[in-house]
Amino acid sequence: MTQDQLKALVGQAALAYVQPGTVVGVGTGSTVNHFIQALGAMKERIAGAVSSSEESSRRLRALGIEVLDSNRVERIAVYIDGADEIDGQGHMIKGGGGALTREKIVADLADRFVCIADESKRVDRLGAYPLPVEVIPMAVAQVARRLAGLGAQAKPRAGFITDNGGHLLDAHGLSITDPLALECEINQWPGVVTVGIFARHKASVCLLGTTRGVQTLQF
Ligand code: 5RP
Repeated sequence: MTQDQLKALVGQAALAYVQPGTVVGVGTGSTVNHFIQALGAMKERIAGAVSSSEESSRRLRALGIEVLDSNRVERIAVYIDGADEIDGQGHMIKGGGGALTREKIVADLADRFVCIADESKRVDRLGAYPLPVEVIPMAVAQVARRLAGLGAQAKPRAGFITDNGGHLLDAHGLSITDPLALECEINQWPGVVTVGIFARHKASVCLLGTTRGVQTLQF
């Protein structure tokens, strides 16, 4: 099976976690695009979606799924999103698609985070994938220096502006031994909007697409 077929497999499998009659939290990325496509088949049975990006909102609306303003939704039962890396405790690196800030906001609204990923995303330790950090423009150089202080090489994502008007730094060369502590530390730096470590908002479940089928990891 190709990587895209594995993504399609878990996108479809995630439908089992959607509770009829509720608002669904929808992430961003190529794996989620398969989920959105599958969700179209049960659009009459959900109360709408809260979306983590303009791109996902556009895809949802194109299927006739109502996208609700996150400020009008107090809780959602489940948030379904992909990951760039996920470890054995459900901690993730996210933000490869640049949507990390809205993804963390929707994850914060949700009772459960269901991660959908192909097996290449499962790692023992986070950090081989460059860690995205969304930054307010005037803090880019200072945050890059702070990341260098942690031993990372921070590269601005050229020509990319987030849905929130922020800039992105991708931090290469980190080996993240304590995801929760690093998330908390980077979050404190002035000018940082969001760091792409999801440890405080880790996955509750991961549906991992493998050549032997969908593996369900509980955390
Ligand atoms: C976007 C994300 C995505 O979930 C992550 O990049 C995985 O993407 P894909 O499903 O395309 O592999 O965090 O900001």
